[in-house]
Amino acid sequence: VDAKTPAKIKSKTVLTGVKPTGTPHIGNYVGAIKPAIALAASADKTLLFIADYHALTTEHDPKQMRAQIYEVAATWLACGLDPNKVLLYRQSDIPEVFELSWALACFTPKGAMNRAHAYKAIVQANIEKGVEEVDAGVNMGVFTYPVLMAADILLFDADLVPVGKDQQQHVEIARDVASSVNHLYGDLRLPAPLIGEETAIVPGLDGRKMSKSYDNTIPLFVDSKRLRKLVMRFVTDSSPPEAPKDPATSSLFMLYKEFATEEEIGALRKRYEEGVAWGHVKEALYEAMERRLAEPRRVYAELLADEARIDKLLAEGAEKARVIAGATMKRVREAIGVR
Ligand code: ADP
Ligand code: TRP
Repeated sequence: VDAKTPAKIKSKTVLTGVKPTGTPHIGNYVGAIKPAIALAASADKTLLFIADYHALTTEHDPKQMRAQIYEVAATWLACGLDPNKVLLYRQSDIPEVFELSWALACFTPKGAMNRAHAYKAIVQANIEKGVEEVDAGVNMGVFTYPVLMAADILLFDADLVPVGKDQQQHVEIARDVASSVNHLYGDLRLPAPLIGEETAIVPGLDGRKMSKSYDNTIPLFVDSKRLRKLVMRFVTDSSPPEAPKDPATSSLFMLYKEFATEEEIGALRKRYEEGVAWGHVKEALYEAMERRLAEPRRVYAELLADEARIDKLLAEGAEKARVIAGATMKRVREAIGVR
């Protein structure tokens, strides 16, 4: 998402999905939530859905599934997603997705799935561990994951799909599948991935990429006391306070830029050049985060305490989404000849 993005998406349909796995963290906020909400302000039409049936490939605890669906919905709403401007729905509320997914599977070469990164990574790990069955731990949901994702995208005639780098291949597969279908029948819109140009990789507490798989995250809506504690735990080098420091290579500074005002950023940059204690930087970071997150945190708690309100919003979203979905499926059914 670069400076040119708003012009690029003005007349476009933007769609993205979020898997309800794990509690959203600061990395998700900076890398996905904040840019997507900003994008929605410029796009012609924006759709955002909770990809619960994608989560089912790995999440087999119904209690967790249910809780995480509400957490994701509440997070996006609390961060400023306006359901009057963005079509917000739950994937499993749209039966057309699964119908289209089957139809697309019949146009998807199995080899393309063999080459999908996520599947290949599991196979590779099995080989390295010496597991005899290389497909061990791969259910068919994992294997056909990209087909379902193609259905999510093509059903709504999406032009642009904002995703992280790890999802780029999936969007390209969706585009390839759409091309195969179009070769015979015509009219699916070809989607393209929209990869943030400089979506910073938010570092986790241990310095690696913040990720729930590394257990190094700061959950987005922890209370302020815990937030401060976690920020203080960021690893830093042992350079003395008076040593000048380079903001460009500092992950704390990178994070600070996401939460502070231009003025504050300028002031802290100066402190870096003069020499600053890491403890001071962390304190400033905590304060900037707290200022930005206090209100969303309050709204989040309020929403989570009122699941009926979330249900209602998701139901309204689904109803609108199904109008589009129904029209596309009508087109597809006629094209393939089952109608
Ligand atoms: P995790 O790595 O914790 O499992 P996900 O894979 O669920 O996170 O990420 C969802 C989205 O959040 C991704 O598409 C990516 O854009 C964004 N994201 C996750 N972690 C980071 C991070 N450390 N920095 C920037 N963006 C991130
Ligand atoms: N696979 C995506 C992820 O893991 C989530 C997703 C599902 C998605 N369907 C999508 C993203 C359609 C964009 C478009 O993050």
